[in-house]
Amino acid sequence: MQRQALRWRRAGRRVVFVPTMGALHEGHLSLMRRARTLAGPRGMVVASVFVNPLQFNNARDLSVYPRPLAHDRRLCRDAGVDVFFAPAAGSMRAADAGTWVEEMTVSRSMEGVVRPGHFRGVTTVVLQLFNLVQPSIAIFGAKDFQQAAIIQRMVRDLSIPVRIVVAPTIREADGLAMSSRNVHLTPVQRGQATALWQAMGEARVALRGGVCVAGRKLDALRRRLVRRMESHPDVRVEYVEFFDEHTLEPVRQIQRGARTRMAVAAWVGQTRLIDNARL
Ligand code: PAJ
Repeated sequence: MQRQALRWRRAGRRVVFVPTMGALHEGHLSLMRRARTLAGPRGMVVASVFVNPLQFNNARDLSVYPRPLAHDRRLCRDAGVDVFFAPAAGSMRAADAGTWVEEMTVSRSMEGVVRPGHFRGVTTVVLQLFNLVQPSIAIFGAKDFQQAAIIQRMVRDLSIPVRIVVAPTIREADGLAMSSRNVHLTPVQRGQATALWQAMGEARVALRGGVCVAGRKLDALRRRLVRRMESHPDVRVEYVEFFDEHTLEPVRQIQRGARTRMAVAAWVGQTRLIDNARL
């Protein structure tokens, strides 16, 4: 992969890269179509599928992660991907590898608290993938907002020569954010999973309707959203956070004109889902 990528680079061909863990859905495919547009007719679009063991902090989650590789390959081809890069499970990291890349500011909240070690697994593999694929542009989804923010930090802090593009979250008709893990939901749980999106919608309505006004603490709103989501029998909320979308610092009070975002993590049965939206 790297030898080929360096050849393209010498020939002045731009590479646009979409890293994934596969089990591709419309959310992933929207990134690939965006990549196709950004690459232009002469550029190369590379999509990777690698279920990265370093970022799983739950052995069960890793073992049940869906891996429909042949189907993923067809979807990539149809979305205009030139190179489907799917390294074999053991081929990315030497057994005695001891080097990690860790972002330590933006990673400290939300997913970083609940999933210790997760983000250093992500940054380590993403930098390695960047070194293999040599992209001039890499595309990430806003669905994993904190992940995208951490990658942007890593690129800035280590002067990595790649431009990061963050693309919008693609949703099902009822608002559920598309995710490879949604296939684990039973039909009843699938119905309840829309609770995350509904709760975030309710927060926006509360703000617009003046129920929450500038200066008011966000704690009451947080409690209300947790209650609302947990009124579904299979839903257990892990966190609801309000944060500044540039610094990812927590926001405790409503501020007029602030760039506040909210993020939600919840278990629906045995499946953990995350989502986020502008407040
Ligand atoms: P994965 O969960 O497969 O996601 C790959 C990319 O697709 C990420 O940038 C993610 O934010 C984006 N994505 C997922 N669901 C989306 C949706 N509904 N709408 C828009 N974009 C969506 O994120 C990872 O893999 C891994 O951590 C990875 C970056 C590949 C490193 O291993």
